[in-house]
Amino acid sequence: MKRISLTQHLIEQQRLHNSIPSELRLLIEVVGRACKTISHAVGKGALGEVLGSAESENVQGEVQKKLDIISNEILLEANEWGGHLAAMASEEMESIHPIPNRYPQGEYLLLFDPLDGSSNIDVNVSIGTIFSVLKAPEGMAAPTEQDFMQAGRRQVAAGYAVYGPQTMLVLTTGNGVHCFTLDREMGAWVLTQADMQIPAETKEFSINASNMRHWFPPVTRYVDEMLEGCTGPLKKDFNMRWVASMVADVHRILSRGGIFMYPADSRDLSMPGKLRLMYEANPMAMIVEQAGGAATDGKQSILDITPHKLHQRVPVFLGSKSEVERITRYHTE
Ligand code: AHG
Ligand code: MN
Ligand code: MN
Repeated sequence: MKRISLTQHLIEQQRLHNSIPSELRLLIEVVGRACKTISHAVGKGALGEVLGSAESENVQGEVQKKLDIISNEILLEANEWGGHLAAMASEEMESIHPIPNRYPQGEYLLLFDPLDGSSNIDVNVSIGTIFSVLKAPEGMAAPTEQDFMQAGRRQVAAGYAVYGPQTMLVLTTGNGVHCFTLDREMGAWVLTQADMQIPAETKEFSINASNMRHWFPPVTRYVDEMLEGCTGPLKKDFNMRWVASMVADVHRILSRGGIFMYPADSRDLSMPGKLRLMYEANPMAMIVEQAGGAATDGKQSILDITPHKLHQRVPVFLGSKSEVERITRYHTE
């Protein structure tokens, strides 16, 4: 097998599509390097004393795990000094993190969910890192939260690393979705799947069914129909999978199709869904659309939502096109 490294892939993409200027390439390589460091920490588990809770809460009122904080620090430190960024924002930090004055300022904004799937850390189930890259607005002086309030459609890159039996990096810069596997001995990202495509049809769905009694009618109707199987209106039997790590569920859907749902529900109307627009929904939506799938909030493409705050939450329906279109249609019927 001819091995294509992440760097070689990025340079070739730049030659083909002129879509990855060298500063963006540096950014992606630095994020990739940080993900290797996180992967290493994750792999140590109890031996690295990285398991368990940190006895603190993040801005969303969620108890932070040690690895949430470690991963956040790794990403901040790796990305601070390279000169490619103007500011960062993280699920684990209340406000944005402008690049300190002692370093040169670049023209990109980086957003991340440093450790996705926290509830799986201590039970040795796949977890990941999700990231999104925006261009800083033209003429921006000192970055503010407002500079991050750009629709997902304006992302110039998005990706995730999944720390599973294999560590993988899945990346898009707007010309398809490409998957790299970490060669642990060499410490290198090697291209293992170019142009990932999500099958349009599927018989697999992903939802946390313990919230069923709180769902709104379109979701209840759709899940009921799937559960009716081949004798119901959808005329096929469905299988169900829920990892509770969005990265792992999305990675499975990218690999073999499926629909992932984290809907809004009636518990707290001020909190539309659980997942965060800027760190989870937007990057995953860009990846899924680039792979031929669809991603909506039940009404519109996630990528068309204009954000109004950094930690905004949003309902998410993503994956195989035909099924995402169906649940989106049910929201209007
Ligand atoms: P995080 O660990 O970054 O807070 O994200 C967890 C998210 C997502 O990865 C997953 O799909 C979902 O929360 C699981 O939620 P439930 O525990 O409600 O199933
Ligand atoms: Mn997450
Ligand atoms: Mn997280």
